[in-house]
Amino acid sequence: MLNITITQNEAEFDRVAAWRIIGHMLCDPKALIGLSTGQTTANMYKIITEIYRLHPFDTSAVTLFNVDELTNLPRSYPGCCYTMIRDQLADALNIPDERFIMPPTMSDDFERECRVFQKAIEDRGGIGLQILGLGINGHIGINQPGTPFGSETWVSPMDEIFEARVRRETGVADDYPLGGLTLGIRTIMRARKIILVAKGSKKAEMVEKMLLGPVTEDMPASVLQLHPNCEFLLDADAAARL
Ligand code: GLP
Repeated sequence: MLNITITQNEAEFDRVAAWRIIGHMLCDPKALIGLSTGQTTANMYKIITEIYRLHPFDTSAVTLFNVDELTNLPRSYPGCCYTMIRDQLADALNIPDERFIMPPTMSDDFERECRVFQKAIEDRGGIGLQILGLGINGHIGINQPGTPFGSETWVSPMDEIFEARVRRETGVADDYPLGGLTLGIRTIMRARKIILVAKGSKKAEMVEKMLLGPVTEDMPASVLQLHPNCEFLLDADAAARL
């Protein structure tokens, strides 16, 4: 049985997601929590910071990271995941860099950065909770369709639409290498708990394929059907085709 939660609207979706994350921190003050960036998660992080400001809870041993990061762009680019999570959540929750595991965005050896990132997660006992967004082509993290289910942390190409946007926003040359350092599918599947979050009608078709379609590498998020402890948190618009 898949564990699917459908909220009545976007506001309820944001609130439920925020409380799921806070609840995890309250139950496990030493939690290692993997986050995800994008439009889907921005508002839930805002709600978490508002609740924290009004009713501070213990974050002194919580460790955060993001499931993926852009490569070959400076962290000063506001679209870098380090910067987004710092601005949207980590600063407000007083999480210092020692408890915010992130690969660098610039490196001359990204293969090594992948190993270091993954080992840092493993050394902390593995992922307690992983929040995942759903890409418009079914990607999770930056794992595009066709990524082997056995993949570990690696540098993946981005999807075309996202890459075009990053190029537009940063003004880098067409042949400048861009990619995304991402937890691999197998790395993600080792998380003890996963919450896949998707809202809005533009995700409805992918949600249908993810949940009702076959489990296939052509649809990376479909692998989550096999995870023993994954919740699919959807708003009514994203769930419209179920
Ligand atoms: C990017 C991120 C993913 C995220 C996805 C969804 O591709 N690398 O981790 O899940 O965007 O973005 P949005 O929530 O804006 O639709």
